[in-house]
Amino acid sequence: MQAARFDACGIPAEVVSVSDITRPIPGKGEVLVRMLASPINPSDLSFIEGSYGQQPELPATPGFEGVGIVESSGGGLLGSFLTGKRVTVANREGGNWAEYAVISAKQAIPLPESLTLEQAASFFVNPASVVAMVEKIHQVRRGEWLLQSAANSSLGRMVIRLGRQCGIRTLNVVRRSEQIDQLKSLGADEVLVFDAAADDPEMFVSKVHQLTNGGVRCAIDPVGGIVGSTLARCLNNRGRLLVFGSLTGEPLTIFPRTLIAPRAQIEGFWLGPWMLSQSLPRKLRLMRRISHLINAGILTTEVCESFPLSRVSEAIAVATQPAREGKVLLRIGDAGR
Ligand SMILES: NC(=O)c1ccc[n+]([C@@H]2O[C@H](COP(=O)([O-])OP(=O)(O)OC[C@H]3O[C@@H](n4cnc5c(N)ncnc54)[C@H](OP(=O)(O)O)[C@@H]3O)[C@@H](O)[C@H]2O)c1
Repeated sequence: MQAARFDACGIPAEVVSVSDITRPIPGKGEVLVRMLASPINPSDLSFIEGSYGQQPELPATPGFEGVGIVESSGGGLLGSFLTGKRVTVANREGGNWAEYAVISAKQAIPLPESLTLEQAASFFVNPASVVAMVEKIHQVRRGEWLLQSAANSSLGRMVIRLGRQCGIRTLNVVRRSEQIDQLKSLGADEVLVFDAAADDPEMFVSKVHQLTNGGVRCAIDPVGGIVGSTLARCLNNRGRLLVFGSLTGEPLTIFPRTLIAPRAQIEGFWLGPWMLSQSLPRKLRLMRRISHLINAGILTTEVCESFPLSRVSEAIAVATQPAREGKVLLRIGDAGR
């Protein structure tokens, strides 16, 4: 089968290419999925660079999420039930940028026919993270502020639309002024531009305190570096910052008193371990909530461009450009022709 591969970690568009490899065989409790599409997410790029939370076993095939059709089962009732169904392919090991992937049958979630290929391909990672952070962990209340950085990201746009639907006030941080009007048209209550290289963190913090009347209880940050550190200074009494990405590759630098006086917290969020900690009924409720919110146009993913798997390097080059207006999607097999 054809698969995207890399032999060594490095710059993603340079180290990944397509080659022929042996089609995997599912073991007991596993299914073989014929892949249809997979998005290029920041986690895939960090995995290829070697800076993700787990190191690849080289040579490796990237791709943590996607959609495909279960072709066969390695045995077990669940595998037989799933055979022939279109499923979301949540692949913790990576491996979805290939014509076939083998995953545990428990990680294959059947998808409603109503979802387009684009929405089905990005059904899980960002939508589940939004619901987990906003509704389950922060439990942001109606009328309360939620401060987020990288607000123009796919996930950030979902947070804005969810906020508008649920009456949560979103305070959104971007690095370019061109993004203000667009995010406001999605329902953002406030959009602040903060360029870590040029803007004064002090002025940013006082602006947030002024807008929110004393700071926020809930903040989320996938950027790190100066941006994440500055968000921590916007927390009020018992405020909590969830850190869920490291887009700058730079550490957080926090003066201890930033946390001591308001008794604030900084906590990591990683979807995989969080999901594992949830009971089966909670997971099923989460899936229903995601389906509902995607169908309602809230947790939808905009796709800016799609490429066949054979053009994976070009696809990665587009995915790593700043100020994109959506995800880059890899179309695989029949879906890419
Ligand atoms: N921990 C978890 O379980 C989990 C789950 C889901 C997502 N995530 C993380 O959530 C983040 C967003 O994911 P996504 O799929 O929504 O991403 P995406 O659509 O690819 O968007 C990436 C965003 O990051 C911004 N960005 C990139 N580099 C930046 C920098 N150096 N400083 C400031 N902003 C920067 C971009 O800003 P411009 O628009 O200005 O280019 C863009 O808005 C990623 O870090 C991802 O890893 C984590």
